[in-house]
Amino acid sequence: MLPSQTKLLMSTLVQKYNIPGPRYTSYPTVPYWDLDTFSGHQWKSTLIRNFNESNEEEGISLYIHLPFCESLCTFCGCHKRITKRHEVENPYISNVLKEWKLYCDLLESKPKIKELHLGGGTPTFFSPENLTRLINGIFKTATHAENYEFSFEGHPNNTTKEHLQSLYDVGFRRVSYGVQDYNKKVQLAIHRMQPFVNVKNVTEWAREIGYTSVGHDIIFGLPFQSIDDVAETILKTKELMPDRLAFYSYAHVPWLKGNGQRGYKDSDLPKAEVKREQYEMGKALLAEVGYSEIGMDHFSLKTDSLYSAMKNGTLHRNFMGYTASKTRVMIGLGVSSISDSWDSFAQNVKNLEEYGHLIENNIIPIYRGHILTNEDKIIRRHILNLMCRFRTNWENPEDRFNELPEVKHKLNEMAMDGLVEITSDSIYVTEKGRPFVRNVCMAFDLFLHRKAPDTRLFSMTI
Ligand SMILES: C[S@@+](CC[C@H](N)C(=O)[O-])C[C@H]1O[C@@H](n2cnc3c(N)ncnc32)[C@H](O)[C@@H]1O
Ligand code: SF4
Repeated sequence: MLPSQTKLLMSTLVQKYNIPGPRYTSYPTVPYWDLDTFSGHQWKSTLIRNFNESNEEEGISLYIHLPFCESLCTFCGCHKRITKRHEVENPYISNVLKEWKLYCDLLESKPKIKELHLGGGTPTFFSPENLTRLINGIFKTATHAENYEFSFEGHPNNTTKEHLQSLYDVGFRRVSYGVQDYNKKVQLAIHRMQPFVNVKNVTEWAREIGYTSVGHDIIFGLPFQSIDDVAETILKTKELMPDRLAFYSYAHVPWLKGNGQRGYKDSDLPKAEVKREQYEMGKALLAEVGYSEIGMDHFSLKTDSLYSAMKNGTLHRNFMGYTASKTRVMIGLGVSSISDSWDSFAQNVKNLEEYGHLIENNIIPIYRGHILTNEDKIIRRHILNLMCRFRTNWENPEDRFNELPEVKHKLNEMAMDGLVEITSDSIYVTEKGRPFVRNVCMAFDLFLHRKAPDTRLFSMTI
């Protein structure tokens, strides 16, 4: 087929399958959690059981949410609090450490930490001394698992050599930086002025210090962003060759973000056809400059551990995104964090003051969650297989469920479009179908089958 015909075909497909859909960092997705059957008591008992069964062998994952940022980027969909008052650092870290102690008392033995991620907000809002105090405080009642992986999100405008060195000294070897786009007009629109030299500096410092994986986040579909801007950002990225690259579609969800995402008009965003072209051109250019697609939105160099995990089938996905180290238990500390005991999910309160109040009263600050049924676990297995390996099967009777014929029926049209191949007991997402893996997962999502969302909850799949 001629390249122009291929391009036209892809464009038609993107048009057809670009609908609002979840990102499947969990199944069931948060809006479908069954809050009525959830209880804190059950959450704790499933956590203790799974911790006792898995801590020695595989360890646990720990996510710590550090919510402060000095300045609001108007495109941002993360949970954050904007402030320039750095006095907030100390009390917040003390609360996170108290929360950790509540968990350690509950679990009655020292967790072995396999994966540790500092997310935000902006972890580098905190001083290097405070971040060191946080990590040392965590390890007063924890040990390191074998081959542990510690990572953090840094802002290129405020990450210093001291941040990188201090976190390296306590075991961090991976860092990811928010880049978004290098064009000034786009940066002005999203209220994030960030010259290339800042990204260059923090990338090079990390490498000099000895970090083994540096990641950049870039976004397409931002206000005033043209196709050329996306290409230019990728070509500038190539100069620094980060080991990992997230290529996100801008999630425009102003109805969920209060005052956020309102600094520009809907008409300032690229039209659907332009966004599609940004995506297709971007993916092609990334491949050309040496990146391999790992899973949804994620790319890496062949030398990175995510690439090997993808190749040897051990890639996993959780609330932190894609990871090379799967653990059954994941504890989330800090406002809005989500924990996963493998049999249930629990989310912390989002309000800082309420969080502080609960911690002061020695209460684990969760406010909602979901206990997984047997059916949820079957569907989760399929969705994880699809998101991490682009295939799943139900050869084993334990992987079958009543609605399987309906799911296959729903996927027929995607099969006719060459996006999936279906056999009597398996499904495979073709190369052409990979951009639409969220749509394939949606066919398996029994909560979506049974009840379409009442209001708009999800961003567009592309
Ligand atoms: C917590 S921030 C990264 C660390 C730091 N706060 C920074 O901005 O550099 C996480 C990443 O989420 C992505 N992100 C945030 N809001 C988004 C949105 N509305 N759509 C797509 N990606 C978004 C951005 O690429 C951002 O770098
Ligand atoms: S993109 Fe990063 S720095 Fe900007 S508001 Fe969001 S979390 Fe804060």
